[in-house]
Amino acid sequence: MILLYREIQWACFPGYVILLFLIPVQGWMGKCFAKLRHKTAQFTDERVAVMTEIITGMRVIKMYAWENAFGDVVKQIRKLEIAKMITASYPIGTNLLLGLYGNRLLDVSMVITYALTTNEPIRASTIFVVVSLCRVISFSFMRRIPRAIQLSSECLVAVERIEKLLLLEENREDDKSEIEDGELSEGTKIEAKGVCCSWNEESTASTLKDISFEVKSDQLTAVVGPVGCGKSSLLMSIIKELPVKKGSLKVGGSVSFAAQQPWVFSGTVRENILFGKEFRKKKFERIVNVCALKRDLDLLPDGDQTMIGERGVTLSGGQKARINLARALYDGSDIVLLDDPLSAVDSEVGRHIFDKCIMGYLADTPRILVTHQLQYLATADQIIVLKDGQIEGKGTLNELTEKGIDFAKLMSNDESVEEAGGTSLIHARSYKMRNQEQKEEFLQQPNENASQKLFKAEEKKKGDVNGCL
Ligand SMILES: Nc1ncnc2c1ncn2[C@@H]1O[C@H](COP(=O)(O)OP(=O)(O)O)[C@@H](O)[C@H]1O
Ligand SMILES: [Mg+2]
Repeated sequence: MILLYREIQWACFPGYVILLFLIPVQGWMGKCFAKLRHKTAQFTDERVAVMTEIITGMRVIKMYAWENAFGDVVKQIRKLEIAKMITASYPIGTNLLLGLYGNRLLDVSMVITYALTTNEPIRASTIFVVVSLCRVISFSFMRRIPRAIQLSSECLVAVERIEKLLLLEENREDDKSEIEDGELSEGTKIEAKGVCCSWNEESTASTLKDISFEVKSDQLTAVVGPVGCGKSSLLMSIIKELPVKKGSLKVGGSVSFAAQQPWVFSGTVRENILFGKEFRKKKFERIVNVCALKRDLDLLPDGDQTMIGERGVTLSGGQKARINLARALYDGSDIVLLDDPLSAVDSEVGRHIFDKCIMGYLADTPRILVTHQLQYLATADQIIVLKDGQIEGKGTLNELTEKGIDFAKLMSNDESVEEAGGTSLIHARSYKMRNQEQKEEFLQQPNENASQKLFKAEEKKKGDVNGCL
């Protein structure tokens, strides 16, 4: 601008006035674009969320032939998104237009003013210098600045998203989680004293209220109670997923957790069980055996090398539950938490898992088993009965029945009791007697391939289909 002034003196000012007028206009256009870009991003987010949901549930959508209905939902959001994108392109177009013609307007106005005001002859050298300097000015003011505004608004949208993610509440690591050996009394692995937890921090109502119990080494602790009473939440609080609001919860050692909703990732069955740990054949085979997975692996096309998950074969709920259980076992942690692993499998397999795995392989490990199968309670060293997030009773089966706790009534609003079959305590006690014999048998033959008899091979028939069909 100074160079221009030196070249044509006051004649450059009309050009500067045009520049002063165009820059705010372009700035305003940039602001409009930023606003519209924000709105477009909202529709894009919505579309991506719907698409993710569709891709995740593709099997169900295909099965019910809902493709068109979901296609219409996506089309509708896409339409709104495109409409906003088109509106956002108007300020960009106007800015480009102003940049293109503003440049001409600038040098023409300066040259005309110079021609009208100067007494000297107009030389080509002056005009060339003026035109090229105008080009430099308009390029930086009319092209680069609006582009910078446009890019910074896009950048702002991205920064806001990153900020939202970074400002998410931290998963608070409980200071009490670092338990030193001396802090827990001899032989105690978990100690809860007046624990209160809540999934909703703002809510005053607690999910778990005044929970106190102890789990000793080698103990099987069973947790029972109706649906929604807080059994899973209790296990979650032990693995620090659910923060403790009040009281103290001490856990002495590493914890493995087999969740109620079994989870597998894309990979081979073996990778799913090892979960990054080193493969040890004998241990792996024993775990597969105790988790009643042997027969399943034999039926799978590539055995334990079969791909499962999104890009592999689909497993049944029971198979997933047993793979989860096997993963928890393979980890070899000091404490094992099992959230209802027996409900996803039939009673025969359930019995096998309870005998060979929970009472066999894990015999020396402190373990907490959430279950609805009351027939297993007689074998538990300790039973915790939960109701509405509170401990209704605690002790062995005999102690609890003496106290007058009616298990069948307690769980009566629970559908799974019916599925469990033998809920009566007579059944539970007779089961304990049989279980004792089976445990001894198992400990003598730890690698026996017992799971095989639990399955029956699928029957297949070969033949032709009639043409008139
Ligand atoms: N991940 C979670 N986030 C929020 N609330 C939860 C979560 N898990 C459980 N809850 C709530 O905690 C209460 C107890 O549930 P849960 O522990 O799953 O019961 P149970 O395992 O005995 O059926 C329920 O009211 C449930 O809605
Ligand atoms: Mg649960």
